[in-house]
Amino acid sequence: MSTQAYTVSVPPQKYMREADFFGISSGKTIDKFKATGLTPAKATTVNAPYVDEFQMVLECRVIHTHEIGLHTLFVGEILDVKVDEDILADNGLPDMIKLDPFLYAAESRTYHGVGHDIGKAYTHAKSF
Ligand SMILES: Cc1cc2nc3c(=O)[nH]c(=O)nc-3n(C[C@H](O)[C@H](O)[C@H](O)COP(=O)(O)O)c2cc1C
Repeated sequence: MSTQAYTVSVPPQKYMREADFFGISSGKTIDKFKATGLTPAKATTVNAPYVDEFQMVLECRVIHTHEIGLHTLFVGEILDVKVDEDILADNGLPDMIKLDPFLYAAESRTYHGVGHDIGKAYTHAKSF
């Protein structure tokens, strides 16, 4: 809030434990980097840290905030995207399998991996 900036660091599945801890604890009371051993790195375009171990990071400036009851919704403009070369596909774009992200299903309180691709967007619609 004070710097009007944030980063989105995408954790791979092997960091599920650390991501779970980041999700359920607050930086107001604990240093999450210190507690998990993850490394804070300084973003280059905004005044906010990102997680150095995570291979894809978005750097964002806040353009709107909305109070939506219990939570504050932040709308940001992405100013930079950092991706480790290790997770790039042959075409130079991020490879979803190498990124190895996961989703949180709040209702069941479970984390779920992202599977293999099931089809090419913009092509299957043509069958209708
Ligand atoms: C398992 C899990 C539970 C979460 N529970 C809450 C919650 O009860 N309230 C909330 O505002 N955000 C929740 N979040 C979202 C954010 O991770 C959480 O707001 C954030 O860690 C708060 O940290 P901060 O105070 O350092 O910003 C949850 C995320 C996960 C992965």
